[in-house]
Amino acid sequence: MGDHFSISVPSKPEYVNVVRLTASAIACRMGFNIEQIEDIKVAIAEACTNAIKHGIKNREENFKIQFLVDEEKLEIDVEDEGHGFSCNEIEEPDLENPKEGGLGIFIIKSLMDDVQINSNIGKGTSIKMIKYLGDDL
Ligand SMILES: Nc1ncnc2c1ncn2[C@@H]1O[C@H](COP(=O)(O)OP(=O)(O)OP(=O)(O)O)[C@@H](O)[C@H]1O
Ligand SMILES: [Mg+2]
Repeated sequence: MGDHFSISVPSKPEYVNVVRLTASAIACRMGFNIEQIEDIKVAIAEACTNAIKHGIKNREENFKIQFLVDEEKLEIDVEDEGHGFSCNEIEEPDLENPKEGGLGIFIIKSLMDDVQINSNIGKGTSIKMIKYLGDDL
């Protein structure tokens, strides 16, 4: 079953750091190592930045983050009720010909063990990411 936290976050870039610190505190308590905690912080910051930058329709709206903690893993869901996008059409970045932007989701997928994106145009987006404990041991 595990433990369940959720927070509702204002859609303002200045709160991304609060979310990073929250994730870091939870991950630290769970016993993740420093490298894993860094991965989680970067991934959650990218997901929040996307919710704020692309998702939310106006800055008065909040978005939601859920943390699910159990013995073997941390699951983080970042959910906005914003514009949504065609998440099946995300292109892999061309790392040999880098251009500005388009790296956030790629970074999240490379840092977390399991990532699922669900998005509905006009309804919103949820990105679920999992990090397993003990993976680096
Ligand atoms: N929460 C979201 N709501 C709506 N669209 C999104 C959301 N998250 C991602 N997208 C769409 O997916 C695209 C890819 O996201 P990604 O984070 O990989 O790149 P980026 O945000 O454009 O650039 P970067 O993250 O490198 O600054 C975005 O440009 C946007 O169109
Ligand atoms: Mg992004």
